[in-house]
Amino acid sequence: MARLTVNGKAVEVNVSPSTPLLWVIREQVGLTGTKYGCGIAQCGACTVHLDGTAVRSCIVPMAAADGKQITTIEGLAAGGTLHKVQKAWLDNEVPQCGFCQSGMIMAVVALLKDKPKPTDADIDATVTNICRCGTFQQVREAIHAAAKA
Ligand code: FES
Ligand code: FES
Repeated sequence: MARLTVNGKAVEVNVSPSTPLLWVIREQVGLTGTKYGCGIAQCGACTVHLDGTAVRSCIVPMAAADGKQITTIEGLAAGGTLHKVQKAWLDNEVPQCGFCQSGMIMAVVALLKDKPKPTDADIDATVTNICRCGTFQQVREAIHAAAKA
């Protein structure tokens, strides 16, 4: 039995220690905002925060997540108020198909925590998530807007 806190709520799951955190979040906890893209830590669609750090949950085994605090896209809006990154995303009309966007937003929230006023170079170095719809320019504009908010 492994124990996690997901978006502030304690959960217990009975899975193998090698089960990727992504599948625990989606299938055991039932939060499907976190997406599966590649399964090999390349695309970032599965990004969540583990003890406040952005991780690609498709390659984090439950053994490494046991006892930790997890935040997913569903836990970002505190008390129903959108996080400033979510608001900037809406204001800048970033999403197209939307598939990559929850992972992208989680990566950006972590970036702004470390670097509240990131440069374009900081963004390029940190937000390496892949968007097949090519929203990268809007992502960059929304990050700068969120940094000013
Ligand atoms: S699904 Fe995890 S990085 Fe692509
Ligand atoms: S918005 Fe479609 S993959 Fe990024």
